[in-house]
Amino acid sequence: MQEASRTWRAAGKRIGLVPTMGSLHEGHLSLMRIAREQADVRVVSHFVNPTQFGPDEDFDRYPRNFDRDRDLCREESVDVIFYPSREEMYPEGHSVYVADDRLSAVLEGVHRPGHFRGVLTVVAKLFHAVLPDFAVFGRKDAQQLLLIRRMVRDLNFPVEIVSGPTVREPDGLALSSRNAYLTPRERLEALSLSRALREAKRMYDEGERDANLLRAVLRENLSRAEGARTEYAEIVEVDTLTPPDRLQRPALAVLAVHIGNTRLIDNMVLAEGDFEL
Ligand code: PAJ
Repeated sequence: MQEASRTWRAAGKRIGLVPTMGSLHEGHLSLMRIAREQADVRVVSHFVNPTQFGPDEDFDRYPRNFDRDRDLCREESVDVIFYPSREEMYPEGHSVYVADDRLSAVLEGVHRPGHFRGVLTVVAKLFHAVLPDFAVFGRKDAQQLLLIRRMVRDLNFPVEIVSGPTVREPDGLALSSRNAYLTPRERLEALSLSRALREAKRMYDEGERDANLLRAVLRENLSRAEGARTEYAEIVEVDTLTPPDRLQRPALAVLAVHIGNTRLIDNMVLAEGDFEL
């Protein structure tokens, strides 16, 4: 991969990378289209990264279908799929990791210990393998995006980070590979996430700046959904991910909710003007 990338770079080509764990859906494809606009060579990485899954998480049952994913990449005129094996990515004796100790200490980091260490490590490795000029990440995983930007800044990676908006079903459910686990009934209950976020955002847009009140609105909305168990429902400032009392800077409403055995996350930006993560 590095050899190919060096050849492209020497020829003056701009390389764009879209990292994925496969099981591609329209959210992933939207990121490929962003890459297509800005790159001469489009690379999609396809690797279900074991180090970002906890011992009781869904690594073994994570949906995998390479042949389907390859066809979707072809349709999106992706030039290269980087599809390493687990042994190539983590050879026997692998012992060095990339860890953040600030932004990953909250929200997802509390409930998925070690998750972001796995994410940052694999993304650093993918950057070194693919040597992209830029990489595209979805705002669906807001904390992940912010952590990757922080890693790139703090460790001086020569990679530009581009973000894409969250792609949703017409009824509001954010697309996720994990939606495949939902039963039809759970699929309906899963609408509680986007409904709660929309309600908080509507109140914010109408001028509400009391973060505690907006937090209560999120939680109250979620508690009305019968099969939903809220793990966290927070309002945090985007640069620190800490919860303010009043909203004076751009913020995020963020949720993690269990619907049956499926854990879903979603978020919406609360900010004035056309602020983007
Ligand atoms: P994965 O969950 O496959 O997601 C790959 C990329 O697609 C991420 O940048 C994610 O934010 C984005 N994405 C997922 N759902 C989306 C949606 N509904 N709309 C827009 N973008 C969406 O995130 C990972 O994989 C991994 O952690 C990875 C970064 C590849 C490291 O292993």
